[in-house]
Amino acid sequence: MKNPKIGFIGGGNMGGAMIEALWRAQSDEADAVQSSAEDEQKLDVSEARGAENLAQTDKNASPRECEKKTKFEIIAYARSKNEALRQRFGVKIAASETNLAREADAVVLATKPASYEAILRLIAPELAGKILLLLAPNFGIKRARQITGEGVYIARAMPNIAACIGASATALCFDAGFSEPKKETVREIIAKIGKIYEIDEVGFAAFTGIAGSLPAYACAFIEAAADAGVRGGLPRQLCYDAVAAAVEGTTHLIQSGKHPAALKDEVCSPAGTTIEGLAALEKGGFRGALMDAVAACIAKARG
Ligand SMILES: NC(=O)c1ccc[n+]([C@@H]2O[C@H](COP(=O)([O-])OP(=O)(O)OC[C@H]3O[C@@H](n4cnc5c(N)ncnc54)[C@H](OP(=O)(O)O)[C@@H]3O)[C@@H](O)[C@H]2O)c1
Repeated sequence: MKNPKIGFIGGGNMGGAMIEALWRAQSDEADAVQSSAEDEQKLDVSEARGAENLAQTDKNASPRECEKKTKFEIIAYARSKNEALRQRFGVKIAASETNLAREADAVVLATKPASYEAILRLIAPELAGKILLLLAPNFGIKRARQITGEGVYIARAMPNIAACIGASATALCFDAGFSEPKKETVREIIAKIGKIYEIDEVGFAAFTGIAGSLPAYACAFIEAAADAGVRGGLPRQLCYDAVAAAVEGTTHLIQSGKHPAALKDEVCSPAGTTIEGLAALEKGGFRGALMDAVAACIAKARG
């Protein structure tokens, strides 16, 4: 789909995060076009001078390639957030949910699940032939389909709050009947907010536990560790920074293929400090508590 119009109903934590990511991606691509064009200009000049160092030419996409990438027009109807979204990201604001659905090619339903049904009833007549993207944990495609009827391309995603910096882990699934180009449009939107995991809808509740809601549990971990650092005499900000950096480093090691158990074994030397802390964690039931937290989230997401 060429330059699709993405319409957001709701622009709170998640809608705002996704709009920010799309906006950033558009800005980055515009910058890439600009710098690539400048590089090409420099190259023309250096070629004219017979410059031999072609290896230093930009290896990024050429302006023509960048132009080929999908550009999105972002529209929103987000009530109390309308003005902020317009000012911060230059988003076009629709007059109502219905107007937004009429204008958009893809509608992202970024409100709390409690208002999904009412909004879907309102916009259903405008959705024929369009993409509808659901974000709520306990409102599935089947339920949305009962309201919209046939002829709407319904997809479901479960992002997390790191979407705003393009670092979400997002589950994605499509209802039957999606054409490959329509799927691609959705993937291009979701790719702007981070990593995509295409899974069956049945796995969405579990994914909510391990990724959609996980930032809250990770923040509780980081905050508690920082509190302990403050208790140990270090400044508060340094503690937040150092704990987050340690978590980030560990994450990179695991993403590079290291098994978490092997890494844990490596950092625990016999009779050392780390195994002492780990023993205290086990005594406090850390793993069990975390597994219970994720399980409680999954149960709630199953509704
Ligand atoms: N936050 C997360 O980390 C996260 C992660 C994964 C999935 N999700 C899902 O994403 C969805 C949005 O969550 P959220 O955290 O962004 O909630 P939120 O911060 O409460 O934002 C919801 C927004 O929807 C707006 N809204 C409600 N009814 C509306 C209507 N009829 N028309 C236009 N706007 C309307 C609200 O506007 P007002 O401010 O005017 O009330 C509010 O700004 C939920 O389904 C949630 O489960 C969220």
